[in-house]
Amino acid sequence: MSDRKPPYHELKSKMKEAEALSHVLRTHQVDAIVGERHIMLVRLKQAEENLKNSRDQLRALAARLQSIRENERAVIAREIHDEFGQALTSLQLGLSWIARKVTPQQQPVQAKIRSLSALVTTMIRSAKRIAVELRPGALDELGLVKTLRSEAREFEGHTGIRCRFETNLGKATFDRVGSVAIFRIAQAALTNVARHAHASRATIALMKRNNDLMLTVNDNGKGTTKELVHSHNSLGIIGMRERALVLDGTLTLRGSKGKGTTLTVRIPLSRIL
Ligand SMILES: Nc1ncnc2c1ncn2[C@@H]1O[C@H](COP(=O)(O)OP(=O)(O)O)[C@@H](O)[C@H]1O
Ligand SMILES: [Mg+2]
Repeated sequence: MSDRKPPYHELKSKMKEAEALSHVLRTHQVDAIVGERHIMLVRLKQAEENLKNSRDQLRALAARLQSIRENERAVIAREIHDEFGQALTSLQLGLSWIARKVTPQQQPVQAKIRSLSALVTTMIRSAKRIAVELRPGALDELGLVKTLRSEAREFEGHTGIRCRFETNLGKATFDRVGSVAIFRIAQAALTNVARHAHASRATIALMKRNNDLMLTVNDNGKGTTKELVHSHNSLGIIGMRERALVLDGTLTLRGSKGKGTTLTVRIPLSRIL
């Protein structure tokens, strides 16, 4: 009697119960998973939004810093040009005046005046050059392409490093903020070539590629490392990257040991036209 099998209908109803239970369980599990997935998606969206906000804020801050920096440079350039330049010119005139008062017989004094006058001339020239470097006025007159070409020539003159300029742009004009940013990046890159690369040749290229403007500064020097490029102490590179970021652009610097370094900046044309 005890091992009597349960009647068929009992078995069937138990099976049905089990199935219903398992269905409920499965539905619960699926609901839980769907719920969790939803929460995760919401969180992800929030995180993305936060990241985007931070990026926008960073970009706005960088833009503001750049404009403050350019304004300060303009003020310093004016001071150097007006105050310092005027004073040096007065000094030059004073020396000429003394030279006229001194008799030709006073040879040593005449010689001293000549050497001082030559020194003042050099100082006036340096003051002018510093003022021009601080305030890229040439950009307004010549535009970016010609200014970079003349920058390459000047760089070669100062450093003895052969410097070529290449471009596939004719008379393209870019807006002032963009031009200043690209010019400053090129200046900083060239300073790095002169200071660190031990190069004998450098090339600046400003090229239109599809919908981007590309600036490259390449040298045949000792190269650099990823660590140096991404170091928190590389303030020059950080500054260059900030300038590119403000224009929605990117900047990379790649060096290989003994084979030189290439800086590449890519900026959407729509941001600088
Ligand atoms: N063209 C280059 N050739 C070799 N090394 C470079 C070059 N450009 C940058 N570097 C390396 O990257 C470092 C960081 O550059 P940067 O941020 O401009 O700082 P700084 O010029 O003040 O040292 C440099 O100290 C140098 O070691
Ligand atoms: Mg530097």
